[in-house]
Amino acid sequence: MLFHVRTPPRAVRGVEANRVEIAWRNYTSVTSGASPKPAGARDAQPNASPACYNPAMSTPTTPAIPVASRVAGFTYAIRNIVAEAKKVEASGRQVRYLNIGDPIPFGFRTPPELVAVVERAMREGHNGYTPSPGIPQAREAVARDFVRRGVPTDPDRVLLTSGTSEGIELTIGALADAGDEVLVPTPTYPLYTAVLAKIGARAVYYRTDPARGWQPDLDHMASVITPRTRAIVTIDPNNPTGAVYPEATRRAMLQLADRHGLPILADEVYGDLAYDGEVPAIARLDPDAPIISFSSLSKAYLAPGWRAGWLNVGRTPRLDPVLAAIKKLADGRLCSPGPMQYAVAAALDGDRAHLPALRAALRERAELTTRRLNAIPGITCVAPTAAFYAMPRVKLPEGKTDQDFVLGLLRSRGVLVVYGSGFGADPADGSFRVVFLAEPRELDAIYDDIAAFTAEFLGA
Ligand SMILES: Cc1ncc(COP(=O)(O)O)c(C=O)c1O
Repeated sequence: MLFHVRTPPRAVRGVEANRVEIAWRNYTSVTSGASPKPAGARDAQPNASPACYNPAMSTPTTPAIPVASRVAGFTYAIRNIVAEAKKVEASGRQVRYLNIGDPIPFGFRTPPELVAVVERAMREGHNGYTPSPGIPQAREAVARDFVRRGVPTDPDRVLLTSGTSEGIELTIGALADAGDEVLVPTPTYPLYTAVLAKIGARAVYYRTDPARGWQPDLDHMASVITPRTRAIVTIDPNNPTGAVYPEATRRAMLQLADRHGLPILADEVYGDLAYDGEVPAIARLDPDAPIISFSSLSKAYLAPGWRAGWLNVGRTPRLDPVLAAIKKLADGRLCSPGPMQYAVAAALDGDRAHLPALRAALRERAELTTRRLNAIPGITCVAPTAAFYAMPRVKLPEGKTDQDFVLGLLRSRGVLVVYGSGFGADPADGSFRVVFLAEPRELDAIYDDIAAFTAEFLGA
């Protein structure tokens, strides 16, 4: 018997695969087995018992392929919670998404001159791999920008990365082994805990205190340092709290790190988005301290999808092995997106003319958010001074968690915020993060809904 199924076996999908499979099994069941195998039929499952193999479904029902246990620790609540929102949408209710810090869906626009630079780069054929640390003109522009900010550096200590995120991941990968510890703030931006979980290392939280404007508690930070601590992360300006740390706090953190011989990982992706103007880089306070700094075009230049970021490894020779390790790891991922690297020099050497209006828009929304949330009985909110996040807290009834509040708000009012425990906060704190990028009029309507739901939730 001849079979004329031309599709390569592994490309056969769905109905067609099913049909061929059944034909093949019917055929072999009535022959002695010494038969030509049809193209497109799946390979026999030598170790699978017939009971585990269901031809009608065309896929074996043997146990699922297991995944690494480390993946269980890789949680990213900001996106994970979207699955709940989709269920609410499927039930017919509109959802307003205040979960992700992306200005673009809220109507903010990437500066057109940067779009033009990327477009030109593509048209001029810059579509191949770049050198893995990035194109020289972008590395030079980042180095110039650090120098302008009072941080002497050299282009050779700068790498272009796929957003701040990849810089963080490369650096943690270069610094920490399985079982090592890295200090991160709580609440924290969850990428840190996720990346550490992925490599089998551990995030150890230091507290930041809402009663002091979400400043880090340096005594607590000192108390959690152990011989396995490999670095201290500071996110300043901060996501999720919107806090900016005063110089005294930064100096104290540098001294603490110095006493313990630890490098600082300085996440400065919101450094240009404080409402009062540029926040000085922490490395400016001590350019010889072992500081690795991260930023990108995602937030201040309104281009998060471009994945155009960078890192700078402080000039101290103590960081040379870390720089070499980061470069080695970066070789393995070839490069960050090439055409977008051309926008880095245009952005950092440009006039930044869009920034005053952006900061003013954020300040207006921050003030509205703080005023409206603090007016809700049971909610308190520290005023953010940078970025587009606020971390209010609701006084939870006994036995309730932040997730109960957030999921209740989503299901009953269609407002999606993220529970504080997704950022490492205690679920009993009742904190939740609001992204306040929407138009003020829409935010007002959203805060009406939060007020009404909170009254119900607290049984008022
Ligand atoms: C504190 C912080 N670090 C890093 C990132 C990631 O930014 P990027 O888009 O540059 O990877 C974010 C994104 O929200 C953030 O809030």
